Amino acid sequence: MNAYDSDKIALGLDPLGYRLTDSPDKADMIIVNTCAIREKAVQKVFSYLGRVAGLKQIRPDLIIGVGGCVAQQEGDRILKRAPYVDLVFGTHAIGRLPSLLSRLEKKRQQVVDVEMGSRIQEPDGAVIPRGETEVSRFVTIMHGCDNFCTYCVVPYVRGRESSRQPEHILAEIQDLVDNGVREVMLLGQNVNSYGKKEGLPDFTSLLEKINDIKGLDRIRFTTSHPKDLSESLIGAFGRLDKLCRHIHLPVQSGADPILKRMNRNYTSTQYLDKINQLRRVCPDMAITSDIIVGFPGETKRDFDATIALIETVGYDGLFAFKYSDRPNAPATQFSEKVAEHDKDQRLQKVLELQEAITLARNRSLVGQTQEVLVESYRLKPVSGNGGVGAGQWTGRTSTNKIVHMPADEAAQGQAGDIDPGLLIPVLIKKAFAHSLWGLPDGSGARTASGPKGENSHAA
Ligand code: 5AD
Ligand code: SF4
Repeated sequence: MNAYDSDKIALGLDPLGYRLTDSPDKADMIIVNTCAIREKAVQKVFSYLGRVAGLKQIRPDLIIGVGGCVAQQEGDRILKRAPYVDLVFGTHAIGRLPSLLSRLEKKRQQVVDVEMGSRIQEPDGAVIPRGETEVSRFVTIMHGCDNFCTYCVVPYVRGRESSRQPEHILAEIQDLVDNGVREVMLLGQNVNSYGKKEGLPDFTSLLEKINDIKGLDRIRFTTSHPKDLSESLIGAFGRLDKLCRHIHLPVQSGADPILKRMNRNYTSTQYLDKINQLRRVCPDMAITSDIIVGFPGETKRDFDATIALIETVGYDGLFAFKYSDRPNAPATQFSEKVAEHDKDQRLQKVLELQEAITLARNRSLVGQTQEVLVESYRLKPVSGNGGVGAGQWTGRTSTNKIVHMPADEAAQGQAGDIDPGLLIPVLIKKAFAHSLWGLPDGSGARTASGPKGENSHAA
């Protein structure tokens, strides 16, 4: 979501003559777009600001802005900790950036805008691709969150849930496709409740409309809240040919007392039931999740329940975090905090278990042909001498697994060129914990708009 917001910031500043640069040393303005989800992310912001402070000493005209969730959370307290910052703008202020900057230039005094409205101003145009070869792009479909999980800062820093109008979303995607984008990742804190508040067509209807966009090959979305994962959305995985066979369904914990205190509104049994429904519709669906270890009051038994759930589901990948107190989040006041040492151990155990499961799931793909959307080409660094070796193509399967293909061998047995944006069948030869390695399968068709390989889930 921050990557998308950063693009929106760049787009909004373009008419003022600002262009992106690849190095802070060359910049007239540095905008730090921040994340407040865990304490560690906030610490990173202030250590980064400390580094750019040095640049400001050398070039006093340099403008330093802080946006995003830490800006929203801290407001003018940022100026106290980092007095060289010129501009603080919150999550709802991106659309107001041009006027904030002209205020800053006219008055030459620090500007803070952390006002939150009920709706976020729509960007004027589509967030156009940054580079010619960009194949996949984010598209935000809703802002904020109304769920108030007790550990989470999002509702406080991003505000109440609000959905963008479908016509704006569709126009933005059409624009991206016209610029060569082949895949969109739809973003929202809880996409399953898209449009409910506003009385708009629901998320499944939105997906159906996006599925009809010509020239678009793939649709992904994140994040789904398990409590709101509807039957119609589960069914969409069997019906919509562009919808990728991957769902990120954060469970957070496998222990019911913890889920209750997290205010997640589902039990582990209900969660597992949704997983079974998904796998019935789409047996080779990739499933990933988020886990928090060491939530206040998490006993060894609770943690064991999480481990058991991870084993039962057999996730394709996991993001696991140590619980971190957040300002305003109710769990910060909960007693029975788990010791840092225990959190470390639990995190380690989850990561090790998951690495083994991911590797086993990836290995099961060896020998299969998977449809891969080619994203990029790069020369592989050669370890040791700092040089570069043979080139390799990289793409993703529908199940969101990264696939590398050596350019030489890829070019050898195969007719035609590989290019970013092409969907090609790839025979998987090797599997690692974080990627697959394969060769384009000469027997299959190669096309820019959706061949249906043997692993296609089209109904
Ligand atoms: N501590 C640790 N992890 C958190 N997350 C959200 N808030 C916290 C917190 N206070 C994790 C959740 C969420 C992911 C984006 O970040 O797992 O799904
Ligand atoms: Fe945070 Fe829960 Fe909303 Fe996700 S659903 S953003 S965890 S409050």
